[in-house]
Amino acid sequence: MDAATETEHLTRLFAMSPDLLAAAGFDGLLKRFNDAWATQLGWSRAELEAKPYMEIVHPDDRAETQNQIARLAEGETIAEHVCRILCRDGAIRWYAWSGGPGDEAFYIVGRDVSDRLAMEHELAQRAERLQGTNAELQDFAYTASHDLSEPLRMVASFLGLLERRNGPRLDDKGREYLVQAAAGAARMRHLIDDLLLYSRVANEEPRREEVDLRALVDGVLAILGPAIEEERATIEIGELPTLEAEPGQLAQLLQNLIGNAVKFHPHGAAPVVRITARRTIGGCVVTVADDGIGIPEADQERIFAMFTRLHGREEYAGTGIGLAICRRIAERHGGRIYVESEPGRGAAFHTLLPDAPVGLATR
Ligand SMILES: Nc1ncnc2c1ncn2[C@@H]1O[C@H](COP(=O)(O)OP(=O)(O)OP(=O)(O)O)[C@@H](O)[C@H]1O
Ligand SMILES: [Mg+2]
Repeated sequence: MDAATETEHLTRLFAMSPDLLAAAGFDGLLKRFNDAWATQLGWSRAELEAKPYMEIVHPDDRAETQNQIARLAEGETIAEHVCRILCRDGAIRWYAWSGGPGDEAFYIVGRDVSDRLAMEHELAQRAERLQGTNAELQDFAYTASHDLSEPLRMVASFLGLLERRNGPRLDDKGREYLVQAAAGAARMRHLIDDLLLYSRVANEEPRREEVDLRALVDGVLAILGPAIEEERATIEIGELPTLEAEPGQLAQLLQNLIGNAVKFHPHGAAPVVRITARRTIGGCVVTVADDGIGIPEADQERIFAMFTRLHGREEYAGTGIGLAICRRIAERHGGRIYVESEPGRGAAFHTLLPDAPVGLATR
């Protein structure tokens, strides 16, 4: 290719570029620039030739732009210097500039990043708003459950007092009402405790340590002893490893899963519950499986939501918070929890716990 053809090619490409291209003099004037300047900024070619380029830079960005030009004068290259440019119609657009030094002039390429910046700004604002709302909700859950405790304690203690003082004078109906009222208060106590637990798990980062899973499971089984005995459940335990987790939270998770496994079976049948674990790439899966009533496929995801229960309280007791807490705990450990089940044939809850937390724990 001869020199003339090459110049012809370059001139065409120069003219076609959607980015602002220019050779700019250290004397403050544009020497050569492509058509994008006029089409995007609205200034005529004559105006752009006559005007010192610093005049179309937003006054607040002039000092920094001057610094960047000084770097070019020293022979440095610059990348992504973002500044505001004044258009002829008064509009302000954001441009990201890269530049390279030359002898008499320096070479610059400017790209309009206004839309990108506006989008980033919008996204950042939305994320901030969401975070604020989340924090507010968590605060609310904590405060509400905390403040509900006090009046409830009062109701429960006066019910107790009433029963002791006046119980003997009440007829059977009256005593029955008292028992019902006390049971309601106890259920509310349970609900509030679970809510408090949930918001605590949501707010606090787990402090991981080495946990002997077998010892942890034995501790949980001791707590669940009365329920296990009452349901005449058989618990089978596979070989369990040590793993990294917050022991208190992991115990809480297992207590609910095993508690559920012991609870949700046809009345009268003695459940068999299996607790096993296996290592996977980068983590460990702990499984609690039962031979109980199982969970229809359509409900297998939503049971992890707060307050979701598939049965009436008369059929199976509970508040519907347990699995929501389990999911929170798994997620705070960088893991997840899911269920496999065939209705009528039991359910298996798998909890995946990665060895090290992956990314940011989800809120
Ligand atoms: N092992 C299981 N087999 C069958 N259904 C289950 C099992 N575990 C949970 N479920 C279903 O999922 C629902 C939600 O479980 P979750 O543990 O959150 O609440 P709960 O046990 O009813 O109450 P809580 O745990 O708060 O006392 C249960 O009400 C039940 O319908
Ligand atoms: Mg439960």
